[in-house]
Amino acid sequence: MDIVTVPSELQARCLAWRAEGLRLALVPTMGFFHAGHTSLMREGRKRADRLVVSLFVNPAQFGPEEDLDRYPRDPERDARTAEGCGVDILFMPAPEAMYAADHATWVEVPELAAPLCGRSRPTHFRGVATVVTKLFLLAQPHLALFGRKDWQQLTIIRRLARDLAIPVEVLGLPTVREEDGLAMSSRNAYLSPEERRQAPHIRKGLLFARKLIQEGARETSLLDAAVREYWAQHFPLGRVDYLSFVHPETLRAVEHVRGPVLAAAALQAQKARLIDNLLIDPGCTVQSDLAL
Ligand code: PAF
Repeated sequence: MDIVTVPSELQARCLAWRAEGLRLALVPTMGFFHAGHTSLMREGRKRADRLVVSLFVNPAQFGPEEDLDRYPRDPERDARTAEGCGVDILFMPAPEAMYAADHATWVEVPELAAPLCGRSRPTHFRGVATVVTKLFLLAQPHLALFGRKDWQQLTIIRRLARDLAIPVEVLGLPTVREEDGLAMSSRNAYLSPEERRQAPHIRKGLLFARKLIQEGARETSLLDAAVREYWAQHFPLGRVDYLSFVHPETLRAVEHVRGPVLAAAALQAQKARLIDNLLIDPGCTVQSDLAL
């Protein structure tokens, strides 16, 4: 595995691979790898001849009051993990290499960026969209892999690739979870022991919504109230930033469930903001993992 820090060097290496007719996969990350990241890397490894992983804590996607300075980092451990997953290039640029002092170009998908996380993080997705577009231009991947935990991010990236005619297949892989159901996230490291004990109830609250829908509930205002009540009882250390029932592709709010709906939520613990989502199909029969 080679570690590359210079953007133009990454681009030259990837263009040369493409000229040889090789298929390239890219996994964009901010590092501090967990099983969610390694599942993306292993899938990328299987589906392509060359695998590039970017590790860049992107300042442009953090708001002024957010955790850029204390975002968890362990580049040496990450490099060993990436090597173990068969990564060919680990791209680790410095912020100045990605953003010139007079950087002035942004990629925005306002309609998809405004709801859900966009309400409390108004500049987040333009930072994500801009850096991912730049990574696409540098690494020239045929395939890019992302986790479905960040559903809104995935939806935005799919749209920008389509709208800008970037020839990349954007693949979303299932959320990887701890044994108790908590979605894996680098920010789980910020949870206190008691918050960590309560946090799996985020998912359980969403599963509760699915159970209600599959039993016939359709009004999302009622589902919203039921899930908030569930969280108030089981995750009192989490403040609900949002709970929304939206169309899975347009991310527009759904009032009455008539087809597949995405239940998406963010809860704020003391130092960590946790997100999760669940795609609910009202046509499906109740499954055993719905038991709370
Ligand atoms: O999901 C992330 O880790 C980041 O938002 C991404 C896609 C690497 C862009 O910085």
